[in-house]
Amino acid sequence: MTDHSPLRSAWTESLARGQRPDASALRAHLRAVHRDHAGFTETCARACRDTAGRTSYDWLAEAVPPDRQARILDLACGSGPLLQILQARDADLRLTGVDMCPEELALARARLADGAADLLQAEAQDMAALADGSVDAVLCHWALTLMDPLAPVLDEVQRVLVPGGRFAAIVDGPMDAAPGYAAAHHLIYGHVQAELPGYGEIDLGDPRVRGTDSLTDLVHAVFPDATVTVETGVVAMDGPAEALAEDAAGFFYAAFILSPARRVQMLADLAALLAAQTQDAPARFAMPVNRLLVAL
Ligand SMILES: C[S@@+](CC[C@H](N)C(=O)[O-])C[C@H]1O[C@@H](n2cnc3c(N)ncnc32)[C@H](O)[C@@H]1O
Repeated sequence: MTDHSPLRSAWTESLARGQRPDASALRAHLRAVHRDHAGFTETCARACRDTAGRTSYDWLAEAVPPDRQARILDLACGSGPLLQILQARDADLRLTGVDMCPEELALARARLADGAADLLQAEAQDMAALADGSVDAVLCHWALTLMDPLAPVLDEVQRVLVPGGRFAAIVDGPMDAAPGYAAAHHLIYGHVQAELPGYGEIDLGDPRVRGTDSLTDLVHAVFPDATVTVETGVVAMDGPAEALAEDAAGFFYAAFILSPARRVQMLADLAALLAAQTQDAPARFAMPVNRLLVAL
């Protein structure tokens, strides 16, 4: 059964004191969330599809270069859903997954066939185990948004890529791109801020990753000669409002810090909101996604 006791960490303690959490507090918080809720990202992300029937993992996997035996790094691979998709598409790909959370890597190891991928525990800011120019493409599904400092991550991506390589990432898209998303986001954050007022004004990771222009500028600073594009898409899931609210809320890191009573209230409010948005049809939760593509 999922543990929903409120999560506290050095990051939430800093916020509660009115301070800006530092990088080590961010790491501690992410490690705690993923220790207690390993695999939570894919519960929502695998259920959400675009109008072509693709999940955001599928959309990202399309950025893989067509050459046989390409060497692919899944940066912050989590429980390994993207690695599994890549392996099923082309068993000749040479796959590596890096993540800093051992509980996530254990899930990835369990789902992948022996030898399907090299799995390494490391921080994206320091991937010393990977040689310079040793991968053809770096993919990163929904994790760049969490990383701070970000510059060393982009430096590491550049270091491990071959000349002519590719970097592609799925990150949060503009809130207004997905109908109803902003209202669901604000509802969840409203409950969170009632218990921890600073959450939201300060959020996990580098906020510049969440803006299309600011993300492009960040990437250009490290890859000045690369072609950089950011495309916006929408993925959505339908279902009974109560179950949908649970799955949708599970995707928001902020929701993990709620007390049990507040969480129950938030889920009831979110279910009512999702049901009201679609009236007679099944309830729907839609998320905006940006796909960053960097061609060196
Ligand atoms: C939202 S989950 C995404 C996991 C997976 N990519 C997916 O989409 O299913 C974020 C992942 O990023 C990892 N992560 C966050 N910051 C990291 C860092 N600086 N270095 C390595 N891993 C990091 C977390 O441990 C977690 O597994």
